[in-house]
Amino acid sequence: MQLESVNISAEKVKELTKKYMIETYERFPFVAVRAKDMFLYDENGEAYLDFYGGVAVNSVGSCNDKVVAAIQEQAAEIIHTFNYPHTVPQAVLAELVCETIGMDKIFFQSSGTEANEAMIKMVRKYGVEKFGPEKYHIVAAKKGFHGRTYGALTASGQPGTALHNGFEPLLPGFSYAEFNNLDSFKDACTGNTIGIIIEPCQAEGGVYPATMEFMTGLRKFCDEKGIFLMLDEIQTGWGRTGAIMGYMNYGIKPDVVSIAKAMGGGMPIGAVCATEKLAAAFNPGSHGSTYAGNAVCCAAAYAACKEIIDRKLPENAKDVGTYFAKKLESLPHVKEVRHAGLLVGVEFDIPKAADIKHGCIDRKLLTTAIGTNIIRMVPPLTLTKEHCDKAYEILKESVEEVAK
Ligand SMILES: Cc1ncc(COP(=O)(O)O)c(C=O)c1O
Repeated sequence: MQLESVNISAEKVKELTKKYMIETYERFPFVAVRAKDMFLYDENGEAYLDFYGGVAVNSVGSCNDKVVAAIQEQAAEIIHTFNYPHTVPQAVLAELVCETIGMDKIFFQSSGTEANEAMIKMVRKYGVEKFGPEKYHIVAAKKGFHGRTYGALTASGQPGTALHNGFEPLLPGFSYAEFNNLDSFKDACTGNTIGIIIEPCQAEGGVYPATMEFMTGLRKFCDEKGIFLMLDEIQTGWGRTGAIMGYMNYGIKPDVVSIAKAMGGGMPIGAVCATEKLAAAFNPGSHGSTYAGNAVCCAAAYAACKEIIDRKLPENAKDVGTYFAKKLESLPHVKEVRHAGLLVGVEFDIPKAADIKHGCIDRKLLTTAIGTNIIRMVPPLTLTKEHCDKAYEILKESVEEVAK
């Protein structure tokens, strides 16, 4: 839908947004009217270099030709059926995902948080049915982020923040341990623990990649104790970290993993993928969702996942991500640069992340700010080193300006 097609000005769009929408977001100051690959265009046709990628979603680039074609073709055939009939897009996507990431079974959902709800429900149901009514506890990481619905929200170890404030009481059965601290996780587990949930790289929490020692240690500990290792790969999955899945960087496999974002090529889809044994906890009537497995979303996801594989985008994320992270270290006022492929965080020694972000927007670069001093970037995986050079110059100017 374009401004002209509904005869409306950009100012009016902003006015209607303010008047009618319940706002929980800080909006960019422009109206996005078009997007292509690495760029977002505003109402005046100005191009913005997109280093936030719809928050790690547009991994194959915005409006990727293959994804657009898949959506158009599928929308002309079947848009929605619910999960009663078999559908072609679901079946081929299920095979592609399971075979690529090495999991036995998949359950489609419509978002990341829903995928995590499914993961939590599956693990808890397995625990209480197999071992008894107390075996439902899950240990999660402090500073983790898993979504906004109650289970996922509770798993997000961020008490006392806007994420949790006002929403207590949360779901019972969760405790929290220090990320990248194996002993802390071991201490937090009890005889009633059935699962441990973490992100291979904490994203919203400030970009903290898991160490090799921590990840392999957790896998070993879970095996010894009969605890399920639950990975949230909603932000890290499908190429972001330099491998198709974040866990592949560590040579381990989870018992269950949630995915979303990148897999959909921009369409709303998520999924939980599990071992055959764990997946058996779900049976007819135990879980479901109206839009999950929607035909258009699955067709788009099939095209996006194939693009990620065929164009070797994880390899590009690794190569370009390493180049970019190295370069960012020479920005002024940098305290630390952390990254896993193209999940990049720059921590500054000045509490001015929001100002830096705004300075970047003025100079036509889009990023996100975390807390007071971290800029996080999750661009499309089609990114080139030239894009990085441009982004670096803009960041440098913005930091220099706010540090004056
Ligand atoms: C690691 C992680 N888990 C879960 C979610 C929630 O996904 P959604 O916003 O699609 O519900 C996010 C979103 O940023 C995420 O980064």
